[in-house]
Amino acid sequence: MELINKERLWGTIHDLAAITNEQQPWTRRSFTAKYNEGREWLINQMREIGLEVEVDEASNVIGRIIGTEPNLPPIVIGSHTDTVPNGGRFDGIAGVLVGLEIVKSLKEQNISIKHTIEIVDFTAEEPSEYGLSTVGSRAWSGNLTEEMLSYTNSDGQSLADAISYAGGNPKEIHKCKKEKDSIALYLELHIEQGPVLLKKNANLGVVTGIVGIQRYKISVDGLPNHAGTTPMDMRNDALTAASEMTLALEKEANDRFEQPVVGTVGVFNNFPNASNVVPGKVEFAVEIRSISEDVIYKVANEFLLKVKSIADKRNVKVMTENISRSKSIVIRDEIKNLLNKSCRSITDKVIELPSGAGHDANQMSLLAPVGMIFIPCKDGRSHCPEEWAEKEDLYLGAKAMINAVLEFSK
Ligand code: GLV
Ligand code: MN
Ligand code: MN
Repeated sequence: MELINKERLWGTIHDLAAITNEQQPWTRRSFTAKYNEGREWLINQMREIGLEVEVDEASNVIGRIIGTEPNLPPIVIGSHTDTVPNGGRFDGIAGVLVGLEIVKSLKEQNISIKHTIEIVDFTAEEPSEYGLSTVGSRAWSGNLTEEMLSYTNSDGQSLADAISYAGGNPKEIHKCKKEKDSIALYLELHIEQGPVLLKKNANLGVVTGIVGIQRYKISVDGLPNHAGTTPMDMRNDALTAASEMTLALEKEANDRFEQPVVGTVGVFNNFPNASNVVPGKVEFAVEIRSISEDVIYKVANEFLLKVKSIADKRNVKVMTENISRSKSIVIRDEIKNLLNKSCRSITDKVIELPSGAGHDANQMSLLAPVGMIFIPCKDGRSHCPEEWAEKEDLYLGAKAMINAVLEFSK
């Protein structure tokens, strides 16, 4: 009998993906009613197969099956069920639902393993409306600070309130922090979100490392004024200043470095946003990513210097907030070997590749050995409604993952 039920796995992906904001497919933003609805669906799925379910202080959803040697630290299989706005059907949920399918298969076939397995839907992996990403896995690694819990959304609500809304208990958040080595292994399957597997005609990818991410929120304060009466040389235009800063980031990231680096302004808010008013205020979000910590550091420093000099030159005030920093990680050889072996037991079209996307695995690497398997992504497109993975590839990935779990727990 096959260890993974391909059709059942594919069915659960589309059941959960269908719990979406109807106006904006495929969207389940963290800390919304739709997000809670998706997680209710997940909890029911977990309960139906007899998992012990816990929603922890950071509102992470955990489904647990106890191993035959319950004193061993658990194997955690996780990812996330939130999406970016106008997201896709696979980013995040593939990893959680492959975990669920693995446990279903093991139970169905009466296969017990030594380790307890925990399937985890980590809270808000994507940048939330509060600016922060990997919220739930940060709580586990101890990287969710009081200051972060006080970040607000555009309505002035705090991240702490949002976590309560999702079923957590932010006042007791320290309780879900894990000790180093209290987890035997963390595994995450994910859609690649890029074109490399397709280009190399590979079915599966073993991840070698994950980028680090530096995020800033930048507020530029100019002087709002009448757009008809204020001469060009008498303006303090926040928007033109912020635009020049955005181009400066692009220029910095385009420079040649020892490792690739990307810099993005993905949020840009202009106030008051009226055609006949010189913009008085702009807030924008910046992120810088690379596998090289050193390159992130260089680009960030140069960029911040430019921001300051552009603000001075254009006579606007600028405030820079360091929102978050997640360090790049290198996957340990023994875990790459484990995953190479399990992937190659399924297909010989396996390559190794780094991840330009961030994952909960970044935080989990502070607690445990981590491993990730990538499956191909149609046209290399992700974080958009066109994001797509093939049923067969998801199936191969799930089989490789269950083989890795069985091998590790032997
Ligand atoms: C997560 O999707 C990220 O890389 O931002
Ligand atoms: Mn994503
Ligand atoms: Mn993801």
